Amino acid sequence: MNKIHPENYRFLQEHIRRQSGIVLDDGKDYLVEARLLPVALDHGIKNLDDLCAKLRLLSDVSLQRKVVDAMTTNETFFFREPAHFEALRSSVIPALLESRRADQKLTFWSAASSTGQEAYSLAMMLCEMGLDSWDLRIVGTDISSPVLERASAGVYNQVEIERGLPLPLRNKYCTQRTADTWEVKPILRRMVTFQLFDLRFNIRSLGAFDVVFCRNVLIYFDTTTKLRIIEDIHKALRPGSYLFLGGSEVSLPMGSGFTRMLASDATFFKSV
Ligand SMILES: C[S@@+](CC[C@H](N)C(=O)[O-])C[C@H]1O[C@@H](n2cnc3c(N)ncnc32)[C@H](O)[C@@H]1O
Repeated sequence: MNKIHPENYRFLQEHIRRQSGIVLDDGKDYLVEARLLPVALDHGIKNLDDLCAKLRLLSDVSLQRKVVDAMTTNETFFFREPAHFEALRSSVIPALLESRRADQKLTFWSAASSTGQEAYSLAMMLCEMGLDSWDLRIVGTDISSPVLERASAGVYNQVEIERGLPLPLRNKYCTQRTADTWEVKPILRRMVTFQLFDLRFNIRSLGAFDVVFCRNVLIYFDTTTKLRIIEDIHKALRPGSYLFLGGSEVSLPMGSGFTRMLASDATFFKSV
């Protein structure tokens, strides 16, 4: 296999950055090849240079999307970073139950939800807290349609269902459909909706949130984009709401709109 021409590599870097904000570092040819060659072959294109020639024509929007989808990293699992869920359960939700008791409504956003495990983990945790009289909503968003389709279906294979999900919760909130597939129960699906959304644009249009999980996605963007998204999330948070970032994202400068919090070994942010 010929290596991708450097000029085409630069073209792909720019295409992916423009379409998703994802910064593809120099020298990741192996990654690009591993992820994009299957897309090219699927379209009857035999190598990445020809794929770039086709992309340059701007004639095939679906191919453009598939290239971006293939370059997103969708790694996720249930109750990822358990300290976040423990901080929510023991500190954040009790504080919100107090401050929002007048309208008894809480809205959560799983930004960059990937295949949905984060949103369903939130739903399970809330169900376990028995907040029956409260109106609880979880919105999951992602830039990639294939992962959102999977999130909406709420169907996971044996490996996925075993990653992070304690057995008692699996047995209570999921139904086994086949030897290798499990489906989340309607009680969770009713609480969660998924929608296509690019974090770089018009966050305010999604509504106002009490808790935002924006984890393990900012790492893929350049600093200007990361900071702008944090600023935009702040505008979409009601005062006294909470933001959770991924473990490697909490060291970002958060500006004066947030207070850094520490509970249950988790670092997170409260909007002021
Ligand atoms: C590593 S996953 C994180 C999943 C989950 N938040 C977690 O921490 O387990 C990153 C997700 O970010 C999504 N993503 C990448 N760029 C995005 C953008 N500009 N807007 C929204 N989502 C994006 C990807 O499609 C991918 O599903």
